[in-house]
Amino acid sequence: MKKIISTLMVLAAIGTSQAVPITGTHTFELGDDAFILDGKPFIIRCAEMHFARVPPEYWRHRIQMVKACGFNAVCAYMFWNYHEPREGEFLFDGDRDIKRFCEIAQEEGMWVVLRPGPYTCAEWEFGGLPWWLMKDPTIKLRSLDPKYIGPATRYLTEVAKQLVGQQITHGGNILMVQCENEYGFWGNDKEYMRSYYPLMRKLGFDVPLFCCNPAYALKKGYCEEYLPVVNFGANPENAFNKLKEIHPTGPRMCGEYYPAWFDSWGERHNVKSTRVCIDTLDWMLAHGCSFSVYMAHGGTSFGWWAGCNAPFRPQTSSYDYEAPVNESGKVTRKFFAMRDLFAKYPNAVDTKFPEPAAPIPTQAAVCKVTPEYCDIWTAKGDRTLKSEHPMTFESADFGYGYAIYRTTLPAGAGGEMKADVRDLGVVKVDGEVMGYFDRRYPKDYVRIAPAKKARKLEILVEQMGRYNFGQIMQQSNKGIIGEVRLAGVPLTGWTMTVFDLMGEGMKGIGANYTVTLEGGKDTFLDMHDFKRGMVCVNGHWIGRYWAIGPTQTMYVPGCWLNDGKNTVQVFDVIGNQEVKELKFLDAPILAENRSDLDYYEVHTRPKLEYGWLVKQPRAYEGAFKKGPEAQIIKFEKPVKGQYFAIRATSTHNGKPFAACSELDLFDDKGKNIPHSDWSIAAVSSEERSGEDGSAENAVDGQIANHWHSSWDMEKFPHYIVIDLGKVENVGGFKWTPRQTGENGRVKNFEAYVLPELKLAK
Ligand code: GLA
Repeated sequence: MKKIISTLMVLAAIGTSQAVPITGTHTFELGDDAFILDGKPFIIRCAEMHFARVPPEYWRHRIQMVKACGFNAVCAYMFWNYHEPREGEFLFDGDRDIKRFCEIAQEEGMWVVLRPGPYTCAEWEFGGLPWWLMKDPTIKLRSLDPKYIGPATRYLTEVAKQLVGQQITHGGNILMVQCENEYGFWGNDKEYMRSYYPLMRKLGFDVPLFCCNPAYALKKGYCEEYLPVVNFGANPENAFNKLKEIHPTGPRMCGEYYPAWFDSWGERHNVKSTRVCIDTLDWMLAHGCSFSVYMAHGGTSFGWWAGCNAPFRPQTSSYDYEAPVNESGKVTRKFFAMRDLFAKYPNAVDTKFPEPAAPIPTQAAVCKVTPEYCDIWTAKGDRTLKSEHPMTFESADFGYGYAIYRTTLPAGAGGEMKADVRDLGVVKVDGEVMGYFDRRYPKDYVRIAPAKKARKLEILVEQMGRYNFGQIMQQSNKGIIGEVRLAGVPLTGWTMTVFDLMGEGMKGIGANYTVTLEGGKDTFLDMHDFKRGMVCVNGHWIGRYWAIGPTQTMYVPGCWLNDGKNTVQVFDVIGNQEVKELKFLDAPILAENRSDLDYYEVHTRPKLEYGWLVKQPRAYEGAFKKGPEAQIIKFEKPVKGQYFAIRATSTHNGKPFAACSELDLFDDKGKNIPHSDWSIAAVSSEERSGEDGSAENAVDGQIANHWHSSWDMEKFPHYIVIDLGKVENVGGFKWTPRQTGENGRVKNFEAYVLPELKLAK
């Protein structure tokens, strides 16, 4: 009874909306230099929020919050895999009900900018693509490959059934629809990109269609059918100049302006100064540009939905993104700064911004517990399959979860056991933990001591998110890929026990706790006592956790809690941490790194032997120009090698640091060399506490983050060395300096292409 009252209280607070619903007939067009709503110029101030990252009970609350911040539209991604988790089975109800989400926005007086994909990125599992596409690993993703475009068209057809009627042209509130997402980053098959235009028109989408790309991939992704919008985190003037170059007339819009950034496990929590955000938004409003703030409300990647970036950087479950409306829907300093700024630039149709909705109440509690424990190693799972060679998750017909592979180690066998385990593996021999596979480094071997008798080998494989960005997405099969070799000899005769998070197999696995809490009140489960795994509360998988941080709590929406008894299932991959009490906090911990808790010996980045690099033959020596512009360096003649190094000896502002947003190489024919097999071979230093300056930022395809040498290492030279994974014939490279600020913008440098490295001992 009390839960119903408190939930009703919350819903009542939400319900009493001050908004004026969008009703009647409206028109929306693309003017020569502005959007035209009902015949008047209209600046879109869009709030990116993902309904899939918010419990449906809170959709209205979050929409009210971004409205109170002064946004006049919400930008909604749809994730294909969320609506077609199994091939041919479409879900558009409950927490998948995009139409309901749009209707609530309309009732709250908010327009919608729709981004249905099929590909969406968004740090979401596989960029929104369904796992089952990878059943055939030869599929060409994001192309006219019938294996891809067939299912993609079927999905968009289902989307149209839900949303064509919700367009402004049909009395609804959808203003415009995006096709694909940042295709310029991926390829230049214009025919593929163009193919969405007639398809969307045939499906009944008659509002403007647009496409988004970052400033430096606008040209590559441009097709004149679509209105191009530009994505960036800094330097608005530069970005809109680029937009003008390809599209001189028409409304100017920033499709994604980043008020901060997302977090990855083991890395520093990302933040961005409110001042910088306000200055950039102010610039756009002062120049009559529309924009979408990505993210205005980040929410949470519940369950298994968080994605992964190259080389292997799985993202946290919290998607707070240091957004103006935080993960649990509360106001922040950025909220009020943006609200004040937006009020200075009213549209003709604007009304006074409503007051922020009442916050969802929170609770803190310490619950004494005695868990019931179910050990995954002895559990039967969803099913057990037999095969001569290891199967992938996809070939075992599931996408998300865990599997235990078992076989027999022949008597006498021993040595290095190598395998391509995706993504993290725990190895047991005769029930004893022998070691771990870890795709982060990559740690693709475990040493097995020889023994006289045959022994049981078990490998528990955990799937972290599939890549959501870059060509490396083609490497998205999960499980064990190829053979497991012991001292070079393939092991055969396997069984595979499946634990499918979308099935029954994972139910009750791990420690099961019963706690007494108040219904309707949000809280944050403190994960300090656990190592790595997943949590399920009252049947809702609330996400992954990992002691290394930066996130140390998990958001538990109050609308998923009963007043009284609640079940909390904690499945820890590293060990059955049965705790005596569970702590619930009334605020999140999003910025606490504990790399000392990494179960795998702390990985220190290799360094080159002192003074060795400068003695190697240089492929090039010169100076980069001032400013954030990307620069192409062409070598006099191509150089063959597996390692590429940059050694920086000065900067434009004289400060003794080095930074790089992105490094791209091209071969002797000028063709881009894919990053798929790249990893960081060595680096002089990287800042990982004052900011996320990790070296991987220079090769992850995103220019909004950057490698930054350690703030304590205040002397030149600084170097970064990429292992290309194989010998390449390098003709030159593209250097994208740090985008957000002067420090570290390299001036003098040398470039090296090397057959091997001399690492410091
Ligand atoms: C890109 C994508 C978004 C998201 C942001 C980073 O530009 O389009 O989906 O991944 O970057 O958060």
